[in-house]
Amino acid sequence: MSVKILNSFNVQDQGKAKEQFALDVLKGLSTKPKEIPSKYFYDDEGSRLFSQIMESEDYYLTDCEIEVFEKNKKDIAQKIGHSNINIIELGAGDGRKTKILIDQFLKENLSFKYTSIDISKEAIVQIDRLFKEEFPALEHTGVVGEYTGGLDWVSDNQSGRKLVLFLGSTIGNFDRPNALVFLRVLWKHLNNDDLLLIGFDLKKEIDLMLLAYNDREGITKKFNFNLLTRMNNELGANFDLKNFMHFGTYNPNVGAMESFIISTCAQEVYVGELEKTFKFKAFEPIHLEYSHKYLISDIESFAMETGFEVLNHYFDSNHFYTNSLWRVKKEMPNG
Ligand code: TRP
Repeated sequence: MSVKILNSFNVQDQGKAKEQFALDVLKGLSTKPKEIPSKYFYDDEGSRLFSQIMESEDYYLTDCEIEVFEKNKKDIAQKIGHSNINIIELGAGDGRKTKILIDQFLKENLSFKYTSIDISKEAIVQIDRLFKEEFPALEHTGVVGEYTGGLDWVSDNQSGRKLVLFLGSTIGNFDRPNALVFLRVLWKHLNNDDLLLIGFDLKKEIDLMLLAYNDREGITKKFNFNLLTRMNNELGANFDLKNFMHFGTYNPNVGAMESFIISTCAQEVYVGELEKTFKFKAFEPIHLEYSHKYLISDIESFAMETGFEVLNHYFDSNHFYTNSLWRVKKEMPNG
């Protein structure tokens, strides 16, 4: 593997990253209602916990996506065709799902290279270990950075046709306006005929969704609390974890699961890095994350509004989840 660590992720720039974290915490804990941006979930420990969520029985999304790939891998490979292709994965996670596709693409003798972009270096190293074992001949480049920086790097360094993988319904963690912005940024980094395979969790029985975000093993709780631990370790905060609870609920107006950490009593928390005390009322929430759930019509309007053509929606047998294959449409100048 070759690893590219983007500027703001270099050790000498880690001070800057910490400062940004501190600023976002200052902003988030000073607004009402309190909130913390969800990108801070995914440090190395957060990524490890998220892998455990994906393996938990109650979190149906991963099983659905695996089923979608198992059932449709041949068709997906066929749609991609035989030109040289760069496969670029955003937020590669632990590689378990991607492995199914790569395996099929190799069986079909497609010629491609694989690039994974993730904010956790450990996640990338882990994927590389897995893929080295499974696919010794696969060329893997790991880019440690945020999505946009990673995409800039790819645009500057890789030519040729691209297939972008954006799995796990991560798009659902953006609200609608930001999802549109993100898809347009992605579109801008791609060329006519490039492809996007993107996962969307669909609207369904609410109890199933509640269970997925309040898993019985309590991993989601640990995952959310990791944010408090991060603030304690990295920003010198003194959150007492036993005075907080995790709460995941469905908001039917927004059409999203929402995750909160709730202060179970009136308390004060000091954040050393900010030299500031934050007051919590009893049962005051910190909003952490939206996970939007979709109808097929929502997905089609996303594609249409951002310059993509839908080639196919692939489903699991329950129709809980879809991976949608999109093609980039760009226009030639008139005349
Ligand atoms: N993209 C995942 C999802 O929306 C992320 C996720 C899973 C998550 N479980 C979570 C985010 C719990 C916050 C809290 O399903």
